[in-house]
Amino acid sequence: MTKVLVLYYSSYGHIETMAEEMARGAREAEAEVAIKRVPEIVPDHVAQRAGYKVDQRADTAAVAELPDYDAIILGTPTRFGNMAAQMKNFLDQCGGLWFENKLVGKVGSVFTSTGSQHGGQESTILSVHSVLLHLGMVVVGLPYTFKGQMRMDEVTGCSPYGASTLADDGSGGDRRPSANELAGARFQGRHVAEIARALAAGRLTEAA
Ligand SMILES: Cc1cc2nc3c(=O)[nH]c(=O)nc-3n(C[C@H](O)[C@H](O)[C@H](O)COP(=O)(O)O)c2cc1C
Repeated sequence: MTKVLVLYYSSYGHIETMAEEMARGAREAEAEVAIKRVPEIVPDHVAQRAGYKVDQRADTAAVAELPDYDAIILGTPTRFGNMAAQMKNFLDQCGGLWFENKLVGKVGSVFTSTGSQHGGQESTILSVHSVLLHLGMVVVGLPYTFKGQMRMDEVTGCSPYGASTLADDGSGGDRRPSANELAGARFQGRHVAEIARALAAGRLTEAA
């Protein structure tokens, strides 16, 4: 069975919600799916003061378990157009896996969340893609066969780079992932699982 890890960081729950939908899509493709978080690195009192959602169900992932999966789907909110430090901190502990080529040929895919519509969704996803490429992973996005990313009748996230959502409603209020954005996440999860299954069937030789 194809094994997929949805690995995310979320301060306020938007990426957490998208992660659950991503996992649902991968399960629809009959993959065995785990949803895990990267560790928080902000001190408790700072997280509380900033109103972080601290009651997230997912277990914390360990770097050492990453080679156990055929595909890893990473979710991170933007921080100034870049991935969150919590995700970068986790990925920066993958030097040993890089040295031993443990993630070469595995599928990697990314989703994100920004506060505003043009707040850096694509640059954030690309910041993670760079790391995945250095690790030798096969980067998969959200193809245009997910038609929802073409919508012009409503404000929506999602692009060929990956599923995404917008966290603010424009007046400082909270906007939750829309039905269209959740459908994009589900589509990407299914797509990644199907590609991982096809790749695993082909198997890379040691030299590849
Ligand atoms: C330090 C910091 C920097 C941020 N930078 C941006 C930004 O560049 N563009 C943007 O649209 N939103 C920005 N945001 C808003 C977050 O991306 C938003 O809170 C997040 O997408 C919500 O996802 P979450 O609920 O999963 O944490 C920033 C938030 C913080 C705390």
